[in-house]
Order: sequence, then C-alpha cells, then structure tokens
Amino acid sequence: MSILVAVRGWSPEHWIEALRAIAPDRRVERAPDVADPGTVRYALVWKPQAGYLRTFPNLEVIFSLGAGVDHLTSDPELPNLPVVRIVDPDLTRRMTEWIVLQVLIHHRQQLAYARFQAERRWHDLRQWSASEMRVGVMGLGVLGTDAARALARLGFHVSGWSRTPRHVPGISSLAGLGQLDAFLAGTDILVVLLPLTPDTRGILDGRLVDRLAVDGPLGGPVIINAGRGGLQVASDLDAALRDGRLRGASLDVFEPEPLPADSPLWDAPNCVITPHVAAESDPMALSANVVKQIEAFERGEPLVNLVDRTRGY
Ligand SMILES: NC(=O)c1ccc[n+]([C@@H]2O[C@H](COP(=O)([O-])OP(=O)(O)OC[C@H]3O[C@@H](n4cnc5c(N)ncnc54)[C@H](OP(=O)(O)O)[C@@H]3O)[C@@H](O)[C@H]2O)c1
Repeated sequence: MSILVAVRGWSPEHWIEALRAIAPDRRVERAPDVADPGTVRYALVWKPQAGYLRTFPNLEVIFSLGAGVDHLTSDPELPNLPVVRIVDPDLTRRMTEWIVLQVLIHHRQQLAYARFQAERRWHDLRQWSASEMRVGVMGLGVLGTDAARALARLGFHVSGWSRTPRHVPGISSLAGLGQLDAFLAGTDILVVLLPLTPDTRGILDGRLVDRLAVDGPLGGPVIINAGRGGLQVASDLDAALRDGRLRGASLDVFEPEPLPADSPLWDAPNCVITPHVAAESDPMALSANVVKQIEAFERGEPLVNLVDRTRGY
C-alpha cells in the first residue's frame, strides 16, 4: 500500500523527500508515474487534474495540502471519500503574519510614505490609534480567528462574520446574510478569509464595496483578500480603487493565477499585490501532520479536519 503525491504548480520533490524522511517504511508514489494504481491508499494533493483521483480503486483518504479545498470540490468526478484539509499551526501563523502586515500597511499609510521617500520628501501624515480603526474579518474559521485575535491584541477594534455564530472573546461576531449589512457598515478595513464555495463566489463586488463604512479614519474602506481569487470581482475592485470608493486593497489571490501581466490591478491606486504567498504550505510541517493522521486512521481513530462536502469547505 502506498501514499501518492499529486501536486500541480508546486515541486513534488520536497513533499516526496519530506514523506520519505518522516515515514521511511512507507512507499511513496509520484503522480502521474504510478506503476500499479491499485496499491495507492492515501493521496496528498494540490490542484490534481479533474478525474485523476478516481483512477485509484483502493484510495481511502484524500489529503488536501492547502487549507482551501476548492481545487478538489471543483472536480465533478471527485470520488466519494473522506477529504481532510490542512489545519496546521505553522500555516496559520504565516497567514496571520501576512494579514497583520497588510492591515498595518494601510493603517500606518505606508504606501504614501513609500511614495514620499521616492520623491525625497519629508512629510508626515496624521496617525490614528489602532482602537479608532474597525477591522472586520470575513470568515471567522481557523485562519480568520487567529488573525482576528492578533489584530485585537494590537488594539484594533475587531469584528467577525461567519456562516454560523462564533464566540471569540474580545471580538464581536455577526453571522449569516441577515447580519452582513451591519457587519459591513461597521468595517473600515475588511479582511477576507472565506473559502471559495458557490455561496461565496463573487461576494467581493461593487455592491459590497458600497456597503462598507465611509466614515472611518482613512476616508474610505480598504479590502484585504487572502481567501481565494474567485471571491472577488476584479473589475469591480479595480473600478472602486480608481474612483476612490475603495481607499486601498491588498490582494494575494486571483482568478486566474498568475495574474495576467495586462491586468489593470497591477497599477490600481493603493493596491498591494502578492503572488498567492500569504501562507505557504511547508512540506516538512504538513507531511508530519498528514503522517500522524494516517497513523491515527490505521489505529481506527476518526480523521480530523474533514471537509463537509455539502457545505463545500
Ligand atoms: N492565500 C493563501 O496563501 C491561503 C492559504 C491558506 C488558506 N487560504 C484560504 O483561506 C480560507 C479559509 O481557511 P480556514 O482554514 O480559516 O477555513 P475554515 O476554518 O473552514 O473557516 C472558514 C470560515 O468561513 C466561513 N464561511 C464559509 N462560508 C460562508 C458563507 N457562505 N457565509 C459566511 N461565512 C462563511 C465559515 O463559517 P462557519 O464558522 O460558520 O463555518 C468559517 O468561519 C481557505 O478556504 C483558503 O481559501 C489562503
């Protein structure tokens, strides 16, 4: 019985090396060169080709090597097997770093200071206290909750929005479409850590921008998206940045990726772009996490961090 590594867009070598180091007694196969597909019992995957996983008749568990599973749920032929997603403290910390960095870039007006420096200009801007800035975290799951806690510790006024009510000390939490307007109306900096599902696709559009607070310290709202590119309507965000309805943005995810060189977003005003690097998956940390789960599964213990296929995340 073997473990399959099927990753696209990343180098599979690091994952194979990590698995061999952590579980030297197990056979590790690299997609697509699998001699006998019948021997594969577990698959570690990132963006596998649609239909590929159904070619393994004895596959028992699918491990997504990212926290998001839209790369799997979009496969109409995905076998009806348990899908485990990565929840790992290393990945969570990396995401919180990126979110805090981006919130501070906008809160402390770092983009303006970078422009002043390029002009050799000594000029100071008004500085607000963090407690005057209302940060709204859309998606109060594993990543959103950690980022929200870190921002609250820095003194920001933090609220969260999720599908079902969440109780996080120090963070006011709203839930469901019925409370979305109230959440947006009280948000100066919107942090987006939602999964991409049929319900969330395109949620970051021009209408949402117009429901964000306009009376905050920055004179207009900011959107920070590290969820998935499919959450945003890129043309709406670009238009809102250019006509001033959005004061700034930080975008790590796009549809398609890579962001095409001719996308207007590259030079939209006050827009920070990073190439889907907010939280990279570390092969050593995440392989150790998967091997632990495989061992527990073989002892008859339940799998954890299972994806709910009907919810889509
Ligand atoms: N850019 C990167 O490098 C990177 C890296 C890792 C992950 N990500 C993205 O981050 C996302 C979040 O990861 P996670 O581990 O925090 O996921 P998670 O623990 O599953 O949390 C998802 C959150 O979104 C909420 N949600 C889902 N559908 C919703 C809807 N229709 N309306 C309102 N709220 C909704 C959930 O509500 P409930 O609490 O009610 O369930 C939950 O609070 C991933 O799906 C992935 O797309 C990006």
